[in-house]
Amino acid sequence: MKKQKIVLIVGARPNFMKSAPLMRELLSNKKSFDTKLIHTGQHYDHALSQLFFDELKMAKPDIYLGVGSGSHAEQTAKIMIELEKSFTEIKPDLVMVFGDINSTLAAAIVAAKMCIKLAHVEAGLRSFDHTMPEEINRIVTDRLSNYLFVSEESGLINLKNEGVPESKIFYTGNIMIDSLVSNLEVASHSTILERLSLEPENYITMTMHRPANVDSEETLKELFKSITEISKEIPIVFPCHPRTKKRLEDFGIKNNDDSHGIKVIEPLGYLDFLKLQSKSKCVLTDSGGVQEETTFLQIPCITMRKNTERPSTVDIGSNLVIGVDPKVIQDTTLDSVRGNAKVGSIPKLWDGNTAGRIVDIMKTNL
Ligand code: UD1
Ligand code: UDP
Repeated sequence: MKKQKIVLIVGARPNFMKSAPLMRELLSNKKSFDTKLIHTGQHYDHALSQLFFDELKMAKPDIYLGVGSGSHAEQTAKIMIELEKSFTEIKPDLVMVFGDINSTLAAAIVAAKMCIKLAHVEAGLRSFDHTMPEEINRIVTDRLSNYLFVSEESGLINLKNEGVPESKIFYTGNIMIDSLVSNLEVASHSTILERLSLEPENYITMTMHRPANVDSEETLKELFKSITEISKEIPIVFPCHPRTKKRLEDFGIKNNDDSHGIKVIEPLGYLDFLKLQSKSKCVLTDSGGVQEETTFLQIPCITMRKNTERPSTVDIGSNLVIGVDPKVIQDTTLDSVRGNAKVGSIPKLWDGNTAGRIVDIMKTNL
């Protein structure tokens, strides 16, 4: 059988932990696959990119596009222009994309127009909220994909409802959990709690970077106020995404005397962040991936969003999606801290073996 040329596309923080296990699996199948990695450079800060390559022991990308930040159209277009050149040179048989970021969308469009087969890992997730840029990216990417690897059961239902033929859909489980499972032991040795003077199970981990929460001055001020109130009862550690950091500066929102319990810190590496999550009393977030990781770790999660594209984390996991009303956030979080947290279980095939299942399918289907 002819060796298949596969190109994996990554661009931003949540792509790295999704691609690392698959890259490893593909590289250990050198007889069947010739695999290359392209990093678009959508995220470029050391703490959002290179640190993950180091910690996840990923090889240097074969191609780094260095595209950087910009408006949605600018960023997506620049990635498309560069990827068209790369695909023309490499002539891949298959392009693989992950999640829902602009790099995912750009690669999907270029591959489809060049008649290159496309595989989407984490297909089928839907928030049904078209104001979320990621929702547009998910819909278009799934529509163009030939292989749709689904992480949770809602994805199967959504794709069926959209008329995607069953022959293209594969329930392979959650690849982000592969990285979590294989790094949890190493992460347990992280000294992040000591470095931040935190006691296990006596602090909240928080992340917040969704444009809907941080790009409006009024919303961000209100959110910060309610977080400040919570921090009077329990310390909050907030590894701050650069988008949010910039907005806090733009809007003059400061960590004043009232908020002495909020530790605003630089984004953490994967291992420190896993350790921080795993020892939290609860996690407050608007991240997609963090809802899943807390579900697996069975740590109470409170999601500051009106919806989630990951409903299994709510239906059977430990996640509460409560919207962005500051009073509701404050009351729900303090209720959780005082011991009334939701206990959950782990969705099917979130077991650390998703990459292996994907590669097995590719061996028989490509
Ligand atoms: C992107 C994804 C989002 C994902 C998030 C993960 C899209 C549409 N959004 O959002 O789904 O949840 O990554 O973290 O693809 N910046 C830096 N340094 C960097 C990267 C960005 O300072 O290395 C700043 C720039 O000011 C930039 C802003 O962050 O304009 C936003 O970056 P961008 O990649 O456009 O979107 P994210 O908010 O990071
Ligand atoms: N993460 C991290 N350091 C941080 C915050 C998050 O390593 O300071 C990891 C987290 O463990 C998860 C991923 O980043 O694996 C989630 O990415 P993010 O929240 O940026 O994006 P989303 O999932 O919302 O698209």
